[in-house]
Amino acid sequence: MASSKHFTAILAFLLASSLIAASSANFYQNFDITWGNGRGQISNNGDLLTLSLDKSSGSGFQSNNQYLFGNIDMELKLVPGNSAGTVTAYYLSSQGSTWDEIDFEFLGNLSGDPYILHTNIFTQGKGNREQQFYLWFDPTTDFHTYSILWNPQHIIFSVDGIPIREFKNSESMGIPFPKNQAMRIYSSLWNADDWATRGGIIKTDWTQAPFFASYRNFNAKACVWSSGVSSCASNSTSSDNAWLTQELDSTSQDKLKWVQNNYMIYNYCTDLKRFPQGLPQECSIA
Ligand SMILES: *[C@@H]1O[C@H](CO)[C@@H](O)[C@H](O)[C@H]1NC(C)=O
Repeated sequence: MASSKHFTAILAFLLASSLIAASSANFYQNFDITWGNGRGQISNNGDLLTLSLDKSSGSGFQSNNQYLFGNIDMELKLVPGNSAGTVTAYYLSSQGSTWDEIDFEFLGNLSGDPYILHTNIFTQGKGNREQQFYLWFDPTTDFHTYSILWNPQHIIFSVDGIPIREFKNSESMGIPFPKNQAMRIYSSLWNADDWATRGGIIKTDWTQAPFFASYRNFNAKACVWSSGVSSCASNSTSSDNAWLTQELDSTSQDKLKWVQNNYMIYNYCTDLKRFPQGLPQECSIA
């Protein structure tokens, strides 16, 4: 149908224009620390990036490249101990008033209490698609891999290779899907004790500052957008571009269900109170 024809056309374009790989690692090459006045730092020859937050400021970085589709992995280790009030945001976003955005946000908590992993998807400047999860591990003791697969038909959020959320292209139902605006990767560590702790009940404990979040092993198979041209990774084998058409197989669907049944604590798609006029249309497809 129309959408699959369109999809084939996009894909042909992407493959035909392929070559440059977005490659792995090195924070010096791939990212720029954009704010925080020295609170964000790259070390270990470019293998480690650290953001920090204290009472006067947080910090943040962004990717040098813009991407139009990608399969992007990053390992994060989050603020340990009493991290209540801190938020570590890690997301893809385009620019302008009708921007697209794919969000991971990690809401800190009191020592021993669970982080919330908050996710959202904006299309054409409209979000309101929150899903929140607890994690099945302590995200502050080790690095864990947080991934965004974004191709013309699917957005899949994964944690350590386990899918936690899928957003399908439902343009056939009139729901915009991010596929025309290139996005950068952004991350920031900031203070959000006015809302992140159940509406601001708990305040950030500044005696614990500075707070740190760390990043390593950035790895992107992606289409880099430059001067209106998209170039997709394809090093040696055509299987390098398999992510462009990837979807969840049945094993992955089972894992997604496991997460949603056991760790999902909020889903906009079941929030009838919030949407008394009816749930958003995309909620009707699984
Ligand atoms: C913090 O821990 C409490 C108690 O377990 C929990 O209800 C809450 O969802 C956790 N997360 C945040 C961000 O408050």
